[in-house]
Amino acid sequence: MSLPNSPVWQQFTTAANTASRRGEQLRLINAPGLRLDLSAQAHSPALQEASTALLAQQGFDAARATLFDGGNANWTEGRAAWHTALRAPQPPAAVAAAVSAERERLREFVREADKADRYGYVLHLGIGGSDWGPRLVTRALRHGGAKREVRFASNVDSHSVADAMSRLDPHDTLVIVASKSFTTTEPLANAEVAMNWLREAGVADPIKQVVAITANVEAALNLGILPDHIFQIWDWVGGRYSLWSAIGLPIALALGTDAFDQLLAGAAAMDEHFRTAPIAENAPVQLALAGVVNRSVLGYDSLVIAPYDSRLYHIVPWAQQLEMESLGKVATADGSPAGVPTGAAIWGMSGTDCQHTFFQWLHQDTMGAPVDFILCEQPDHAYARHHELLIANCLAQRSALLRGKSFDEALAETSATESDPARARLLAQHRVHPGGRPSSLIVLPRLEAYTLGALLALYEHKVFVQGVIWGINPFDQWGVEFGKVLAKNIMRELDSPQPSQQDPSTRFWIDAIARRH
Ligand code: F6P
Repeated sequence: MSLPNSPVWQQFTTAANTASRRGEQLRLINAPGLRLDLSAQAHSPALQEASTALLAQQGFDAARATLFDGGNANWTEGRAAWHTALRAPQPPAAVAAAVSAERERLREFVREADKADRYGYVLHLGIGGSDWGPRLVTRALRHGGAKREVRFASNVDSHSVADAMSRLDPHDTLVIVASKSFTTTEPLANAEVAMNWLREAGVADPIKQVVAITANVEAALNLGILPDHIFQIWDWVGGRYSLWSAIGLPIALALGTDAFDQLLAGAAAMDEHFRTAPIAENAPVQLALAGVVNRSVLGYDSLVIAPYDSRLYHIVPWAQQLEMESLGKVATADGSPAGVPTGAAIWGMSGTDCQHTFFQWLHQDTMGAPVDFILCEQPDHAYARHHELLIANCLAQRSALLRGKSFDEALAETSATESDPARARLLAQHRVHPGGRPSSLIVLPRLEAYTLGALLALYEHKVFVQGVIWGINPFDQWGVEFGKVLAKNIMRELDSPQPSQQDPSTRFWIDAIARRH
C-alpha cells in the first residue's frame, strides 16, 4: 500500500493538521553536545501517537539496525552506509582493521608533519562531500588557533583554485586531492592547476607534496601519487557522510588530531543517543518528524538553517548537500513514487545577517518557511554584551515567527502615531504577522569539536529518519549523473567539427561562446 493511502499516514496527517502550533508548552530534548527545543513545532498527544505508529509502519527500528550493522542501507547501490563505523570508539569487527589502520595513518601523517614543522599551508581540492565537511569544520573551529592555514578550492572555474592559491608559499604547501571516485572533473582539473603551480615555482619533486584521499587507489597511483601519500576511504560510506574518514585530514592538519578525535567522539555520542533514546526523547527522530510534518503535511517547500554564529556559516551549504542530495528524490524501494512531498529545499544564512536579508519574507510572506535556529550558549570572544545581543535577536525572531502580531496589536501601534483612523487601519494591515510559523532551536553549550560533531551527526540521522518515513534511499544520488553525461557530450562536440545535436538554445551557446575558446 502506498504511503499516502495508508490509514497510519492519514491519521498522521489529520493529527498534524489539528495539532497546536502556538508553542503552549516547552518541548526540550537533551542530547549529547546540544539541547533541542521543539516548542515551536506542531505538537499534540495525537500527533506523537500517530508518529510512533508511522515509524512502526515504515520499519524504522529495522532500518536503524541495518544502518548501524552495516547492512544494505543504500539499497539501490547494494552498499552499506556505515559512516557510524568511522567514528565508533570500537569500529564494527567487519571494518575495524581498515578503519583503525587509516585513522592511525592519518594521525601519524599529521604527527610527522608537526614534528618536521612541514606544510604551513594546505590546499584542499575536493567538491561536494569531499569538500563541504572539511571546509565547514576547519572554518568553524579555527578560532581556537589553527596550526596550519587550509585553503579550499572546489569549483572547476579556475578562478577558484587561483584564489585559493593566492599568496601561498608553494614550497610550504601540501596539496590534497580528495575524491572518493577519483573520476570527478573538478578536483582532477584543480589538481592539474596545482601541480603546474608547484612545478612553475621550482618545487623539486612536486608529487611529494601531494596527498590523495580516495576509494579508487588505482586511479591515484595512475596520477603518480606516492602509495604512502594515498589515504583510503571506502564505498560503504557516502561522500556527503565521509568527513569522519580520511576526508577529514585537513581538519587534523589544521586543528590537531585531538580535535579530530573530539569531533568523532561527539558524533559517536549522538550515534548512541540516536540508537538508544526512546522515540519521544530522541533528538534526530523528533527533528525528522517535525520536518515531515512541515514538508509533507503543512506544505512548506523549504527549510531555513540559521546558525546564530558566523563561524557556522558553512553549515548551510553542507546541509544543502546532505539534505537535498539525500532526500531530493521520489522513487521508493519498489520504484513507485513516495506519493507525498519529500526532501525540502535547504537554504539559510548565519544570524543576525539573515535578519537583514530575508526575514521580511519569513515573517510576512504568504507561507514563509520553517527555520532551524542554532545558538551557542557561550561565545569564544570577550564581548559578552555582543553575545547577549546575538541571543536576544535569535530568540526574538523565533518568538515573532511563533506568536505573530494580530491586526488589533498592529492597530494599537499605528493609532499611537497616526491621527487619521482610516490611515491607521490601513497601515496596521501592513504590520500584521500571521504567526504560527514553525521553528526549531538547537543550542550548543559552546562551539567546539565535540559539540560540532554531535550537531552534524544529528542532521545526518535526521535525514536518515526522513528517508525511512518517505521510503526513499538517502544514500544514493542518481540525479547528479545525467548532467555529468550531458556535459561530457558537449565537451565532445566542442572538439568535433560536426554540427551539434543539442536543442536550439544549447546549440546556439555552444557555437556562440564555447567553441571560440
Ligand atoms: O555531487 C555528486 C557527487 O557524487 C557527490 O555525491 C560527491 O560528494 C561529489 O560528487 C564528489 O564526489 P567524489 O568524492 O567522488 O569526487
